[in-house]
Amino acid sequence: MSTHIAAEPGQIAATVLFPGDPLRAKWIAENFLDDAELYSETRGMLGFTGTWQGHRISVQGSGMGQPSMAIYANELFDSYDVQTVVRVGSCGALTDRIGLRDIIIANGACTDSGINRVRFHGQDYAPVADFSLLRAAVEASERMTLDSAVHVGLLFSSDQFYSTRPELTEPFVDHGALAVEMETSGLYTLAAYRRRRALSICTVSDHLVTHEETTALEREQTFGDMIELALRAATA
Ligand code: HPA
Repeated sequence: MSTHIAAEPGQIAATVLFPGDPLRAKWIAENFLDDAELYSETRGMLGFTGTWQGHRISVQGSGMGQPSMAIYANELFDSYDVQTVVRVGSCGALTDRIGLRDIIIANGACTDSGINRVRFHGQDYAPVADFSLLRAAVEASERMTLDSAVHVGLLFSSDQFYSTRPELTEPFVDHGALAVEMETSGLYTLAAYRRRRALSICTVSDHLVTHEETTALEREQTFGDMIELALRAATA
């Protein structure tokens, strides 16, 4: 057991899908994994292990934001020797080049978070995806018939969902950020530190330029495509 995960050593697979929402973890386990078993429900942050096409896979909720995500990522890496983490999340589009329901494979992430400033003594670190996972995800997306467009580019990992100063996001958009979410920058940083593989794939659930939003049913459908893509990349 680690501080926030109630699994015994060996109960968590080397490869983990990492949604923010613990109920999404349950949905993934029920809809994609064979013989899935719950290994932790501490603080309601559900984790399951099962198999997908013969590969042992776990799916662990991360919670929202970098502080919560970092607790689970650190414990997965340090206490359970997890080697590969693929975040499967949602994001808000920041540019009209991106459409609602599109899938973004993040090659890197900018942030407004203070976490990396503390970690790097005020200097700027560039958190990037593991290249083998990134390549596998792009190749898998090219082989799949997807209803949504797939983009490879930068996410902006914000510490605030409800920002009072949205104009602070503008320079990031001007320099290529496609969408905002709240976890990827921290995940890529921790994985690099521990020499593990991490990738973040997000579907666009809402659009900050056009103000469109997906319905719950649409989110489920697009989410399914993204999970299939993530599983293919993680097991390639
Ligand atoms: N902001 C931050 N995180 C998000 C958003 C958003 O608009 N949409 C989905 N995740």
